[in-house]
Amino acid sequence: MPDRSPAALCRMCRMMSRPRSLWLIVAARASLLSPSMLRLDKVNKYYRVGTHSLHVLRDIELEVADGEFVSIMGASGSGKSTLLNILGILDDYDSGEYWLGDTMIRALSERQAAHYRNRFIGFVFQSFNLLPFKTALENVALPLYYQGITRRKRNQIAGQYLERVGLRDWADHTPSEMSGGQKQRVAIARALIGKPRLILADEPTGALDSETSQQIMDLLSEIHRTGITVLVVTHDAEVAARTQRTIRLRDGKVVGTDAPAGASHPGMQAAT
Ligand SMILES: Nc1ncnc2c1ncn2[C@@H]1O[C@H](COP(=O)(O)OP(=O)(O)O)[C@@H](O)[C@H]1O
Ligand SMILES: [Mg+2]
Repeated sequence: MPDRSPAALCRMCRMMSRPRSLWLIVAARASLLSPSMLRLDKVNKYYRVGTHSLHVLRDIELEVADGEFVSIMGASGSGKSTLLNILGILDDYDSGEYWLGDTMIRALSERQAAHYRNRFIGFVFQSFNLLPFKTALENVALPLYYQGITRRKRNQIAGQYLERVGLRDWADHTPSEMSGGQKQRVAIARALIGKPRLILADEPTGALDSETSQQIMDLLSEIHRTGITVLVVTHDAEVAARTQRTIRLRDGKVVGTDAPAGASHPGMQAAT
């Protein structure tokens, strides 16, 4: 069942809004990106619940290099989604520093957050977050609507992205007519159409069987090989094993990083 709550729809709108007047500034920043795609320095996050406050992320330190393929693993409630939402500038943090390339992301206005998000980041969610009454083609094309691109051009580009994820023949189908794996492919095509530098995927295989999960990981690996940095949150060790490096989270703390045997320095490994 797609998540149609007001909060989810609002989040989807925020993901896709693209203030056009800021494009030039963002394009200028893009050329200045350092080899580090993102870096967190002692980041803390609290949720205020009634009168008390829940310390959800504790002094998080992590760095992801440009072109890396990284997983974040941890038990339910360990703070993975909160961390990913901060990285995706969907949520703010309370202390520390978050650097996206050479830009410190902190207490941005919604407009500023939207332009960094839309210029750099593509999102993929466990529940796909597709619009149920739109076709696959329209779902993929939606981010281009916010760029003021004509319908004809949007649909032409969206068709190319659907082809890239192997769904050209499914363009006119709505999500309810598609399998979970197909819906996730549509969501990935939608994430790619904005030409992001970074894909953030929150349990992208969480609703899929293991064979379909491997197919989605094949697709994410292929995307990684084109030079895009990919960060996947997962419960599944088989999914994590497909990435170059796994960051482990427990009770809001980074408790370790594993790299597969034989990997070179994981932090700075370039796309191969
Ligand atoms: N909006 C919120 N308000 C209050 N507490 C929250 C909110 N979102 C998450 N939490 C709490 O923060 C902790 C971490 O949640 P989350 O980041 O969703 O973990 P995970 O994705 O690893 O399951 C959990 O204890 C959860 O209940
Ligand atoms: Mg989560």
